[in-house]
Amino acid sequence: MDQKTFYITTPIYYPSGKAHIGHSYCTVASDAIARYKRLQGYDVMFLTGTDEHGQKIELKAAEAGVTPKEYVDQIVAGFQDLWKLLNISNDRFIRTTDEYHVRAVQQIFKALYDKGEIYKGKYEGWYCTPCEAFWTETQLKDGKCPDCGREVKWAEEEAYFFRLSNYGDRILKLYEEHPEFIQPESRKNEMINFIKQGLGDLCVSRTSFTWGIPVDFDPKHVVYVWLDALTNYITAMGYGSGDDSDYQKYWPADVHFVGKEIVRFHTIIWPAMLMALDLPLPKQVYGHGWLLFGDGTKMSKSKGNVVDPMILCDRYGVDAIRYFLLREIPFGSDGVFTNEALISRINSDLANDLGNLLSRTTAMVQKYFGGTIPAEHEAGDPDGELVAMASALRGKCDAAIDSYQFSNALTEIWRLIARSNKYIDETMPWALGKDEAKKARLAAVLYDLCECLRIISILITPFMPETAPKIQRQLGAQADVLTYEAAAQWGLLPADAAITKGDTLFPRIDIDKEIEELNNLIPNPMEQKKEEKPHIEGLAQIGIDDFAKVELRVATIKACEPVKRAKKLLKLTLDDGEGERIVASGIAQWYKPEDLVGHSIVLVANLKPAKLCGVESQGMILAADASEDDVRVLFVDGIPAGSRIH
Ligand code: MSP
Repeated sequence: MDQKTFYITTPIYYPSGKAHIGHSYCTVASDAIARYKRLQGYDVMFLTGTDEHGQKIELKAAEAGVTPKEYVDQIVAGFQDLWKLLNISNDRFIRTTDEYHVRAVQQIFKALYDKGEIYKGKYEGWYCTPCEAFWTETQLKDGKCPDCGREVKWAEEEAYFFRLSNYGDRILKLYEEHPEFIQPESRKNEMINFIKQGLGDLCVSRTSFTWGIPVDFDPKHVVYVWLDALTNYITAMGYGSGDDSDYQKYWPADVHFVGKEIVRFHTIIWPAMLMALDLPLPKQVYGHGWLLFGDGTKMSKSKGNVVDPMILCDRYGVDAIRYFLLREIPFGSDGVFTNEALISRINSDLANDLGNLLSRTTAMVQKYFGGTIPAEHEAGDPDGELVAMASALRGKCDAAIDSYQFSNALTEIWRLIARSNKYIDETMPWALGKDEAKKARLAAVLYDLCECLRIISILITPFMPETAPKIQRQLGAQADVLTYEAAAQWGLLPADAAITKGDTLFPRIDIDKEIEELNNLIPNPMEQKKEEKPHIEGLAQIGIDDFAKVELRVATIKACEPVKRAKKLLKLTLDDGEGERIVASGIAQWYKPEDLVGHSIVLVANLKPAKLCGVESQGMILAADASEDDVRVLFVDGIPAGSRIH
């Protein structure tokens, strides 16, 4: 019989800033499902990746003075490192800049165009020239640009549109016929209301920036990012390329895990696109909640209030972080992240409950039986209750996992942990150990505890993949008693298993001391307002040779103008003493062209040229962060152009 497949995806993340714990949340949850399904015997396909095109990335790269590809390469590497650290077991990682994806998107776009599902039209609206942005009537503030407050004018831009307006009824029907399509249930009404207000056609191309997949039959357009992004779920499986065997095997996806703010794209636009392509629809979209800070704000790159998961993993271990994310917040709801909550979970659930159960059990097996429990057992109370609870645990976890309720699954497992600890108090093995005649009873008690730990270790594997094998090694349990089937069977640990007391699983943390240290490491969002400047003594030192590699020259600004499509950039024409060169600089927020012309500045003269929003920039000018949101160019007026600075 063919093995049943299970295809799960995370959203593809924007590499516009470093990966943070909010991103880790969805990825860890998807990983736990992928691992659980593998344990259950499914042939799993687990996909994650990055969504690398669009104007925002183009601008970020321009600000950083690198090409968009250079910019994303570096950030994507950071995402991949973090997934490795978090033990994410994705089978594939898609980047929307991957060649095969680019070609497949072009093909999909063309196919939709040929079918009349995409047509060329006009994008109309109130246009703010300096901001290069279109606004609707209702978005305007007092009739002016809501961003900069300047006059707007009615403008049109050629664009391609997808006939989303044709799909409202079919999508409503989909929700009706497949009530499980949007989960949790509570997110469905919002989508229904949205559709009932009437769907407009969707603009699927842009001519206002270039960092995107070109529409190959009309290359001044790039594919707008959501068509590029959503299709990743099929292109990663080979759809639109020569070999689509994985697409045939795994599509439709069993579930797309997405954050609540992008449920709309996944439950309206994505099914409509698939309908237009005559392709099967995903079976389910699950919209999870957000990880919030104590002050109720969403953790996000743009706010700069992100918690660094690398630091947390380094201090507490990966499994503690995975456990916290999955246990603390019911999947589907928002949840608050605080350092205090994290540490108290580590202390109570991991160090006390699980850690102590293992260390007490293994220590007693060693102390009383030298590491091997005698075969002769004497049953007693309350063994039956414990055995029944342990044997039923897998079924409870399965049910919770079927509805993606990680927290419930873990709560069930921790019930058995608590029951086992109570069982130690009730049976008092230390008292039994004093009496030679009670050895058989003691053997039964310790064996029962080891069996509970064996079952617990199997069922925590998907959530805590590093901790589970540590427990299993201490129990001397081999692979044949650690399968999914074995998790529902009592009495499989063989009599000759070599049980050893190993290292502590989770050391207890002194909460007050730790919070103080942690707050110094992970800035409290409430105190994040001030710009952080690294202390000079904390910076890596370089030798004079390193510095000598940077060629600094005085240059005079001959001309300056704004850059089309990049409101943060100015294009400077410089005299560097030898001739003219063009430099793009992200200082438009602080300087008008007329403030700059005629002044002399410091130029990094040997920087590799980079294309920033269509401008080939041949260098960089120096400026200082005078305070938060105050950037000042270093003027060196009076020094002749071309003078070397050293
Ligand atoms: N690129 C799009 C998704 C395209 S999918 C075809 C995108 N990227 S994102 O990087 O902005 O967000 C990716 C996911 O991370 C979203 O599901 C979002 O909800 C999630 N999170 C970002 N910050 C989060 C929290 N603070 N908490 C939980 N999830 C969060 O949207």
